[in-house]
Amino acid sequence: MKAKFIGSGSYYPSTIVKNTDLEKVMDTNDEWIYSRTGIRERRYSNKNTSFLAYKAAKDAIENSEIDKNEIDLIIVATFSADYSTPSCANQVKAQLELNRDIPVFDINAACSGFVYGLNIVQAFIKAEMYLTVLLVGAENISKHLDFNDRASSILFGDGAGACLFRGGETGIIDSIIYSQDDVNEAILVSNGVNIDTPFTKGDIEFNSRLKMKGQEVFKFATKACLKVIKEILEKNELSLEDIDYIVPHQANQRIIDYVQKVLGIENNKIITNLAYVGNTSAASIPLVLDELNKADKLKKGNKILFVAFGSGLSYGAALLEI
Ligand code: ACO
Repeated sequence: MKAKFIGSGSYYPSTIVKNTDLEKVMDTNDEWIYSRTGIRERRYSNKNTSFLAYKAAKDAIENSEIDKNEIDLIIVATFSADYSTPSCANQVKAQLELNRDIPVFDINAACSGFVYGLNIVQAFIKAEMYLTVLLVGAENISKHLDFNDRASSILFGDGAGACLFRGGETGIIDSIIYSQDDVNEAILVSNGVNIDTPFTKGDIEFNSRLKMKGQEVFKFATKACLKVIKEILEKNELSLEDIDYIVPHQANQRIIDYVQKVLGIENNKIITNLAYVGNTSAASIPLVLDELNKADKLKKGNKILFVAFGSGLSYGAALLEI
């Protein structure tokens, strides 16, 4: 049995922050940001991640035309959950007001979170443990941005994308996930808690602002993308010609352009929306997938290749047949 894609949804917060808005709070400009990243604007939310996730989940349920109470499992991929516990998935389930108890949990693989989620959905449905699974990628990254760090704060935005999968004949063909040690601490977001107790004094700096070494991430990302794209195609005896769409994690247009050039991917195959969304981490891939779906561009038999990389350093790829 395969995990068949049966619907998708998304949620974009209403506050649009353009590069020209960032110019007012830091020493930057639209030309620098656009030429280095491909980003023109992003969204910031004043709501918690679980609210964004719930809105995207609700949209996916409507799009798939199932009864919400048919969902057997909810997984939320996020690094910016409202709480350390309960999980964001718990909050989503509560807001959906399901009429029964089902398992729910979060996964944290940062920007690779949705591809990690696809791997889990594939395995659970193949094993026939759950029939209908809701997978959400949701982030409120703006609350973690350091606006004194102009190289990293300009990249990120908030949002949520959701997909529903159900056991069927076609669906997730394969997925591969990896993690490489982040020896140079290229991307870090502390959970922001103070570890002092009446008996112990913490010796670690806890600051929940995102820290990133951009050039380290750039080098890792390009290598990781090329590795997993080649590996998943070879493993499944497919070539790029067999793929209808490639949906990469929306981190930086220059990373995507590099991968596209090295592999010789045609322009119309590689799908991006980062110009007006920015990097939304675990939400980035499902947001693009939902755009394709809502634009009626997903046809039966289409094959989509997802590729992601992020903090950890995590990376992976997945193949989905519609
Ligand atoms: N506006 C204007 N100038 C800037 C800005 C800015 N926003 N940011 C940096 N600069 C300046 C620097 O001060 C520096 O100036 P100097 O040469 O006078 O010292 C110059 O631009 C170059 O700075 P770098 O930091 O070397 O800039 P770089 O070309 O590497 O671009 C960037 C930075 C865009 C972050 C790039 O490294 C990148 O995209 N890396 C990949 C990041 C990524 O994709 N992350 C996604 C994963 S995140 C996750 O998984 C959670």
